[in-house]
Amino acid sequence: MNKITIDEGQVSVEIPVYDKVSAKAPVFYNPVMELNRDLSVTALQVYRDKQGRDIRICDAFGGSGIRGIRYAKEISGVECVVVNDLNPLAVEFAKQNIQENGLENVRATREDANILLRRCRGKFDVVDIDPFGTPSPFVESAAGLKTGGLLCVTATDTSALCGTYKEPCIRKYSAVPLKTEYCHENGLRILAGFISRTFAKYKKYTTPIFSHSTEHYLRIYLEVGKGAKRTDDSLKNLGYIAHCPKCLHRMTIPGLAPHIPSECSNCGGTMKVGGPLWLGNILDSDYVKRMLDLLPSTINTYNKALKLLDRCYEESFGPATFYDLHKVCKVLKTSAPPIIDVIEKLHEEGYFASRTHIKPTGIKTNAPVETIKEIILSLRG
Ligand SMILES: C[S@@+](CC[C@H](N)C(=O)[O-])C[C@H]1O[C@@H](n2cnc3c(N)ncnc32)[C@H](O)[C@@H]1O
Repeated sequence: MNKITIDEGQVSVEIPVYDKVSAKAPVFYNPVMELNRDLSVTALQVYRDKQGRDIRICDAFGGSGIRGIRYAKEISGVECVVVNDLNPLAVEFAKQNIQENGLENVRATREDANILLRRCRGKFDVVDIDPFGTPSPFVESAAGLKTGGLLCVTATDTSALCGTYKEPCIRKYSAVPLKTEYCHENGLRILAGFISRTFAKYKKYTTPIFSHSTEHYLRIYLEVGKGAKRTDDSLKNLGYIAHCPKCLHRMTIPGLAPHIPSECSNCGGTMKVGGPLWLGNILDSDYVKRMLDLLPSTINTYNKALKLLDRCYEESFGPATFYDLHKVCKVLKTSAPPIIDVIEKLHEEGYFASRTHIKPTGIKTNAPVETIKEIILSLRG
């Protein structure tokens, strides 16, 4: 079998030669996910440092082993890593790659991730779920994570979570998606909401600490706590978003069975509704700041990772949803002024305003849509 060597972070792994990145490759490896893995290493280092003791990690969908091997090699304070995959060839390569990287605290296993996670309840501090497509069939098994643990989830079924197709989102996440300019943020919120509802059955609550939407995937990190009262309190972060496609006004409506107005209070148009989803924070400012402090300048994706984390930090102080400058200008039938001028004006008028990592033309602000429109028109002169 012809093999190629991949160098990423501080490790080298071998995989069988493949024609294109696809679930049909003999052993899956996607170079586009290097940024995902780089950010994961940093996020897990922040988590480890917060714990102040060595951690046990489960890379439940390990593929070539590159992710788990990087966790063991690049994070200081890792007791052990289990790299698991259902594909026997992937496990064979993972074993070889673990050995070649000289790691004695990493073990490769071959098991269905659901069985492994349920068999190992209470054993792991970190569980990483990185399947093909939707993570939804695996989330409940991850609820066996240690209290105080960290759950990391990748979803590549963005067409469902972000509302291109409504029915798969309802099927997989029991939530109605909302196809808007901020649909990727909604996707992260639907995923966060689904995870919190799934863990709540076990009196466990999940607090999103970092999340991002990049390329074709969504990624979220959540800390897990336990207790009926705290879980009940945490579920108060669930609710709906109503959006007016005519004037772009939007509102968040907390609660699982709230009254949701169908008429837009701003223009009288018909509101579209998405949810239930997580209305609370999906970015913890302190956590993101710590990631920025620890981001290694030696990684290949350094510039991209730095820009993403900078934007995430800025927007972590903002409300749910964002406006797309071009979309607002389309409604106004005017051309777009420079985005920084709009943000500056919003600041001058006393509003929160920042950019977002999700869209280059996105503005996160607590200003009402009509104020944003007035500012844009004033800048157009
Ligand atoms: C997206 S890839 C993982 C990529 C890897 N985490 C990385 O960063 O390179 C998904 C992997 O999950 C494996 N897989 C699919 N279904 C599984 C299951 N039920 N249990 C465990 N592994 C599974 C596939 O063989 C594949 O290697």
